[in-house]
Amino acid sequence: MISSISTAAAAEAPSNDRRPVIELHDLHKSFGSLEVLKGISLTARRGEVISLIGSSGSGKSTLLRCINMLEVPDRGTVSIDGEVIDLAGDAPHRHPASETQLRRIRSELGMVFQSFNLWSHMSIIENVMEAPIHVQKREREDVRSQALALLDKVGIASKADNYPSQLSGGQQQRAAIARALCINPKVMLFDEPTSALDPELEGEVLRVIKLLADEGATMILVTHDMKFAREVSDRVVFLHQGLIEETGTVDEVFGNTKSARLKQFLSAAGHG
Ligand SMILES: Nc1ncnc2c1ncn2[C@@H]1O[C@H](COP(=O)(O)OP(=O)(O)OP(=O)(O)O)[C@@H](O)[C@H]1O
Ligand SMILES: [Mg+2]
Repeated sequence: MISSISTAAAAEAPSNDRRPVIELHDLHKSFGSLEVLKGISLTARRGEVISLIGSSGSGKSTLLRCINMLEVPDRGTVSIDGEVIDLAGDAPHRHPASETQLRRIRSELGMVFQSFNLWSHMSIIENVMEAPIHVQKREREDVRSQALALLDKVGIASKADNYPSQLSGGQQQRAAIARALCINPKVMLFDEPTSALDPELEGEVLRVIKLLADEGATMILVTHDMKFAREVSDRVVFLHQGLIEETGTVDEVFGNTKSARLKQFLSAAGHG
């Protein structure tokens, strides 16, 4: 049974605190001659849930990966909680200027990808405890009780001592979400967290994400699931060929679509 979950940001922040948690300014990224991001600016405020939508290859994953510098943007800046991530050099050799700063900032971002990336040689609870203990240097017993509480809240407490291969896909993905939450992230980044799952397992993962959204977590979520984007988002961003083609509230984007390309995209997705 899923009860309540809070991220650090949600727990700390008064409900009227709308400070920017993530600010992306004029991001550009090319792979060789392919220009994937052509100048993206985007702000996620505390407690805001933003869905990134767009056709395959439009740059959604690249944009998400630029936030924690898994891809280093060729131009532009990324700020987390008001702090700009320092970059040095010029494209294509631009790189984080300070490994220490990057490690610290990454440890504040909870990232969940479509493949679960759990360590296969560690039990579920060990997976959840790994970063808080080894990266954040927190007290083992505190982390253990938080990890158990999170596994309980995502509905897999009974699997704490199992290994990833012994869990279903949906259970593994919920373990990955518990792992990301256990670092008390300022923001959760999800890249199609259900796309590797059978439809019947999708629902259990989406319910956990919806719960986080309802509790005031700050999230950026890449999804192909328009029904879910409608349910969960404060704001929707439609990427097209490396630019934000349209953005707005759920009502604006789905109910009063302006861009012809977005209309076409939504109708192809069965939501026109
Ligand atoms: N490391 C890389 N090297 C070269 N090209 C890349 C790399 N990563 C992404 N690309 C290319 O950049 C473009 C955008 O990719 P990206 O993964 O951001 O798209 P997406 O919107 O997430 O698509 P999908 O919906 O299929 O996941 C694609 O054409 C992809 O082939
Ligand atoms: Mg992608």
